[in-house]
Amino acid sequence: MRLGVNVDHIATLRQARRTFEPDPVKGAILAVEAGADQITLHLREDRRHIQDEDLFEIRKVITEVPINLEMAATEEMKKIALTVKPDSITLVPEKRQEITTEGGLDVVQMQEFLLNYIKDFKDLGIRVVFFIDPVYAQIEASLEAGANAVELHTGEYANATGTEVDVELERLKKAARYAQEKSLKVFAGHGLTYQNVKPVASIPQIEELNIGHSIIANSVFWGIGEAVRRMKRLIQEARGDI
Ligand code: PXP
Repeated sequence: MRLGVNVDHIATLRQARRTFEPDPVKGAILAVEAGADQITLHLREDRRHIQDEDLFEIRKVITEVPINLEMAATEEMKKIALTVKPDSITLVPEKRQEITTEGGLDVVQMQEFLLNYIKDFKDLGIRVVFFIDPVYAQIEASLEAGANAVELHTGEYANATGTEVDVELERLKKAARYAQEKSLKVFAGHGLTYQNVKPVASIPQIEELNIGHSIIANSVFWGIGEAVRRMKRLIQEARGDI
């Protein structure tokens, strides 16, 4: 299982003061040195954290692992992404007022639009991922629209309490199985922490997790290298690799 480290919130901290530190580019380099299998970043329309220069710089200096760009399916983002040429794009819904991405992309509603939107990316060999809720209809629509992979939104699982946790985990398991049956690659992310990652990491069909907030939050105490290594260890334990 690959761990994509999302470096957005290094930039969140920097933007709180509009200063030069901490630098998400440096964070990305240190995360890769510590074993990150991918660097993920979200260039939001409102540029609240990652800035265009961060994206260009990360593309330039990170050569050992893939770059995954999370983005809204807009013309502005398409232009930037086709210039930067990340290894993959993950299309997410975006609302200006939200604190973070609140739900999956409604591929059922957007199927025709997305089919056309992703053409140029696919022609360039850029992997196209749709971030969706763990719902069969969204998986089917993702396949029809031409996605290479789906990233299952783990936010509901992360927010669940009591008996709901197992209900949400079961939804993720079923969705992961269904997506793989449909020949889609299956990833997952959002709201995963050191406390809740293991049950998701042990779902065999899921081959990549993208984790940001918890890793960056704990970097304040442990340093980013140690934060990445600890998350990787939990994932490897869950997979039975160590
Ligand atoms: N995956 C996707 C598609 C996301 O939008 C985000 C948040 O940017 C993440 C993963 C990472 O979520 P978190 O910061 O909660 O770990």
